[in-house]
Amino acid sequence: VIDIRKLYAQSDAFTYDPGFTSTASCESKITYIDGDQGVLLHRGYPIDQLASQANFLETCYLLLHGELPSAAEYEKFESTITRHTMLHAQFDRFFDGFRRDAHPMAIMTGAVGALSAFYHDSLDIHDAQQREISAHRLIAKMPTIAARAFKYSVGQPFVHPKNNLSYAENFLRMCFAVPAEDYVVDPALVRAMDRIFILHADHEQNASTSTVRLAGSSGANPFACIAAGIACLWGPSHGGANEEALNMLREIGTPEKIPEFIAGVKDRRYKLMGFGHRVYKNYDPRAKVMQTSAYEVLAATGRENDPLFQVAKELEAVALKDDFFVERKLFPNVDFYSGITLSAMGFPTTMFTVLFALARTVGWIAQWKEMIEDPGQKIGRPRQLYTGATQRDFVPLSQRG
Ligand code: ACO
Repeated sequence: VIDIRKLYAQSDAFTYDPGFTSTASCESKITYIDGDQGVLLHRGYPIDQLASQANFLETCYLLLHGELPSAAEYEKFESTITRHTMLHAQFDRFFDGFRRDAHPMAIMTGAVGALSAFYHDSLDIHDAQQREISAHRLIAKMPTIAARAFKYSVGQPFVHPKNNLSYAENFLRMCFAVPAEDYVVDPALVRAMDRIFILHADHEQNASTSTVRLAGSSGANPFACIAAGIACLWGPSHGGANEEALNMLREIGTPEKIPEFIAGVKDRRYKLMGFGHRVYKNYDPRAKVMQTSAYEVLAATGRENDPLFQVAKELEAVALKDDFFVERKLFPNVDFYSGITLSAMGFPTTMFTVLFALARTVGWIAQWKEMIEDPGQKIGRPRQLYTGATQRDFVPLSQRG
């Protein structure tokens, strides 16, 4: 058996691989993707089975611990997460410092990074118990921070967590209830929200997860690392695509405008957002589940005839028959239908990537823990291919003309 790590350590090989299309940066036991077959497994379990049979907190436990929880383990985990949902009272002032029209992703990046200023007691990354507490704090506090960013942007008072509700129900209540109001969340929306969280929970070494690992490889604390991941996720080629995909559907507006739009994509004036993936070259298994969720949410909210949904379905049908997309193996990704679903639930587009960040936090923290607990872990330090000037002598300012 060849020990691949030994082989690499001994080798002087130097690879130039922009965008890391064929370089593995780590070993991992968390998530498996077969892009050609459209397979996504978390700890061996297919994503469609998790989305239809597990809930988000069970999925979190699975990602963090490697196995599905027993009933007793689940109960303990749920109660631990519930205990950590509140934010420090000082956070009120922190939020007040942002402009009301700040993008909620800007607030998320700042607020999550600031958690390291509030929770000094769980910053020792070499202590397994502290790593565990940080993981719980992050998973528990993300919905509270996300809901708070939302309420702040719409100018409404914050609704505190209600801990006898499920993770998804509690989050939807914090977003859409008004304080002191009796507010009951539609169970169909709770299930859809939970499923959306599961679909986004982890996706191996994507850009934001690699960012979290790279930041963590220097020994930075977990809150700072997750803030780095959130910043990376914000980009339109990554998590920001869900916002862009819905804006695109709105811009197209009606099915009749699709041919004109497709012509623009082929002329490379713009991309078809929510299409294409670095790894999936057959289909994105998450997109199928997301499309089903879109149907369910539109039915639950009485928007079955939503014109954007008609545009999306027609656009998908046209693209899947068009040689340009077929040759390049471009298929809908998870973001194509998520915008329509979240919009029907009442979220503005600026919240879409925030919800992605909330759900991906467990993946980021599971990957961060796995890296810290790997005895072979080293600081991440890519090399470069230098193409600049060769050595030359300094010319003083007075002689440079
Ligand atoms: N629309 C039109 N053309 C596209 C698209 C698209 N969405 N995606 C790729 N292409 C084309 C490229 O122009 C390129 O064409 P060429 O070979 O003629 O030059 C070819 O397909 C290959 O594309 P690459 O950019 O090399 O593929 P890469 O793997 O680097 O990019 C990415 C993947 C970034 C996801 C890309 O498909 C994209 O930008 N999609 C739109 C944004 C999006 O939906 N992102 C979400 C990804 S999923 C996620 O983060 C949850």
